[in-house]
Amino acid sequence: MGRLVVVSNRVALPSESRPGGLAVALLAALREQGGLWFGWSGKRAMGESGQVHEQSDGNIRYLTVDLSRADYDAYYTGFANGTLWPLLHFRLDLVDYSRETWAGYRRVNELFAKLLMEEIEPDDTVWIHDYHLIPLARFMRARGARCKIGFFLHVPMPSSDLMAALPEHAELFEALACYDLVGFQTHRDLERFQDYVRLFGGGRVVSPGVLETENGNRFRAGAFPISIETERLAEQAREAVHKPALARLHASLHRSKLAIGVDRLDYSKGLPDRFRAFERYLERHPEQRGSLTFLQIAPPSRGDVAEYQALRRELDGLSGHINGAHAEPDWTPVRYVNRNFPHSVLMGFYRLAQVALVTPLRDGMNLVAKEFIAAQDPDDPGVLILSRFAGAASEMREALLVNPYDLDGVADAIAAAASMPLDERQERWDAMMRTLRRYDITHWRKSFLAALAKA
Ligand code: G6P
Repeated sequence: MGRLVVVSNRVALPSESRPGGLAVALLAALREQGGLWFGWSGKRAMGESGQVHEQSDGNIRYLTVDLSRADYDAYYTGFANGTLWPLLHFRLDLVDYSRETWAGYRRVNELFAKLLMEEIEPDDTVWIHDYHLIPLARFMRARGARCKIGFFLHVPMPSSDLMAALPEHAELFEALACYDLVGFQTHRDLERFQDYVRLFGGGRVVSPGVLETENGNRFRAGAFPISIETERLAEQAREAVHKPALARLHASLHRSKLAIGVDRLDYSKGLPDRFRAFERYLERHPEQRGSLTFLQIAPPSRGDVAEYQALRRELDGLSGHINGAHAEPDWTPVRYVNRNFPHSVLMGFYRLAQVALVTPLRDGMNLVAKEFIAAQDPDDPGVLILSRFAGAASEMREALLVNPYDLDGVADAIAAAASMPLDERQERWDAMMRTLRRYDITHWRKSFLAALAKA
């Protein structure tokens, strides 16, 4: 077995804080095979892009690359997060497109290909992650790469008509066809991709999961729903209740129940609609007044992109408005916190909460939904309210599934969750927890790598 080479825009370096679930899974795979993790250093250099930093830890080497200010602006802020991110989340209205950022996106992918090819050996397996790096395999193939290369898209695949609105959609498709295997989060994403191949890509679906381009180039595609380290997180949540931060939150609630949301401050997460739905709940269910407090944790993200700045202003206004209109001298309905917490503390917050609000307008998977379930006390589990438009909804059918655009529907789901009897809560939770135990993150990475080995 050759080495594993993982490539992603962000790299979880051993010298930095404790890695999250995805990083833990990739590190386990790297440790098994020995290998390399390659990506952006997170640094903007004063001069040119391309300075490489190296660290190692046991049989894993980490290579990270600095980007110049101009490359960062065009590749990361520009094409990846100003063009592809909204497009892949069905927000054509927010797509900001220019030839210049597209050129920067290609340039950085080409640079990564050049640097990687100095490292690659013929029997390596390369696993590339997410929308920042779609063209990477194509540039590697152009430089002679013959090894297996797989790609996993962590975000949704949009409807083919939306994809076709991107001036460079054909080039992105040709780039995807250079992989041996393209992985999506859900069957729906795979279906939408297959539609694209037929309707706009000039290719055909030979059989489910086997695709062919116009010039006869075959490659595979499949659905591999990402998951969490279920057992370890359940244990972490059990232990977290002893943390001082948990005791403080608990004491501060007095007798009120807790509804929790945890999201990057991103427009795909549907936060303004969620806040409005919570207000609608206060209005439609006066009988529950004061009995539920909503805590939204939303660390700021991608602050260089204009839409994220506008979203932050909107939420500042909304949270202030709801509290002004509905608070009592001794009760505040919305607690809105713009910072991040250690993951182990979040697991404790989840366990303390009776309700989780996971209502993105679109989401590739959404691991908060899965983590919330893993964190619950089996004797008294909380209720998950989950958007139909999150990838997680295709596996977690026993959640209270909602349409996040339907504020009345979400408001009524909040009321139902806050008053749901114990036996129904347990039934729903048991079913979801069984799924999460069976399909955890180890299952995810092993099934992707096994499919890639066969492709
Ligand atoms: C999403 C993407 C990831 C990305 C993360 C954080 O989950 O799928 O690729 O790393 O957001 O965003 P950031 O721009 O800070 O890396």
